[in-house]
Amino acid sequence: MKKLRIAVVGCGGMARFYCKRYTQIEGAELALVIDSNLSAAEKIADSLGCAFSDRFEDALAPDIDVVDISTPNFLHEFQALSAIDSDKHVILQKPLAPSIAEGEHILAASNRTKRNVGMYMSMFNNPIMYDMKRLIAEGYLGEIEGVHCRNAHRGGLITPPGTWRGDLAKCGGGSFIQLAIHSIDAVQWLIGSEIQSVMAFSHNRMCKNIGGDDATAASCLFESGVLGTIESSYCADRSYIGVYGTKGYFLFTNDVDLEVMIDTPFKGEVIEYDTPKAQRRYPVYSTLQQYEHETPYDQSIAFVKAILEGKPAPVSVESGLRDLKIVKAVYESAATGMRMDVK
Ligand SMILES: NC(=O)c1ccc[n+]([C@@H]2O[C@H](COP(=O)([O-])OP(=O)(O)OC[C@H]3O[C@@H](n4cnc5c(N)ncnc54)[C@H](O)[C@@H]3O)[C@@H](O)[C@H]2O)c1
Repeated sequence: MKKLRIAVVGCGGMARFYCKRYTQIEGAELALVIDSNLSAAEKIADSLGCAFSDRFEDALAPDIDVVDISTPNFLHEFQALSAIDSDKHVILQKPLAPSIAEGEHILAASNRTKRNVGMYMSMFNNPIMYDMKRLIAEGYLGEIEGVHCRNAHRGGLITPPGTWRGDLAKCGGGSFIQLAIHSIDAVQWLIGSEIQSVMAFSHNRMCKNIGGDDATAASCLFESGVLGTIESSYCADRSYIGVYGTKGYFLFTNDVDLEVMIDTPFKGEVIEYDTPKAQRRYPVYSTLQQYEHETPYDQSIAFVKAILEGKPAPVSVESGLRDLKIVKAVYESAATGMRMDVK
């Protein structure tokens, strides 16, 4: 059977890890990497043995089946629409787009095609996510009372001038749209409830080369009645997701460990908990370690496998747009001092 041929557009940041994954899928091959900076594409092509180009149009060639859009946020709409119109399957990096209008255009186009169009949300790479989901869905935490999340690193302090992250229109925000979107997406999936209303503070005190916020703190009301907080920062480290219930809790500290305390034993893929009511810690893969291990959960692999098996994209464009609306409601709340409902 003919292999699915994949083109990755955008060879910056983390793209070398995504590209490598496409060389590990039976039934698919990494055919082409593209970057407007030709040497960035050439470097990845040399290491992975594929073609390279500095022309986005080459991703639209008839012999390409899947286009991975890993370019800066402001290019997502044009490149996604072009790829969809050329009958490609499309996977998009988060956030969906800098603005809701652009996100809605992508959603409308994705609803017109029979091809898969979906999001790459990296938290779902981690096997621990599926144990955490089970702890909640199967009642090990009891009734969920609250969540608290933070996505943060010090990247904003060292961002040079003149990048797309320094341009509010190109990025769509600062630390909250870039970092907190991971927790927004993950925590709603984990607790099975969407964020309904938000109240927030947001500012930029330290990162002169970031166009939007360098720190944001948002309080959230979920449809189920759960209360939570989601913070982001480009000025200090530490990311985590904590979920607290009437029978126990977990605190997932990204790249470090998962702390669990529940009333009953639990056996998952990573967690083996046999000491009821005692606090236990389990090591987790760091963001980069995940790429060293075989996993069906990797988002690039899961997306391509879904195409091969005739299944929908694992993370939908609808959820990407919903996440974006929450980000924008948070920014609106911070700007107006008002509570905002997510519409
Ligand atoms: N899932 C994650 O954890 C994660 C992490 C980092 C970035 N991202 C997302 O990935 C996207 C890219 O971010 P990044 O950190 O790699 O940015 P980056 O600035 O490091 O790299 C972007 C690359 O795109 C290239 N590029 C710019 N215009 C182009 C064009 N017209 N055609 C082809 N290539 C072009 C640039 O030359 C650069 O190499 C963003 O949407 C970002 O939010 C996701």
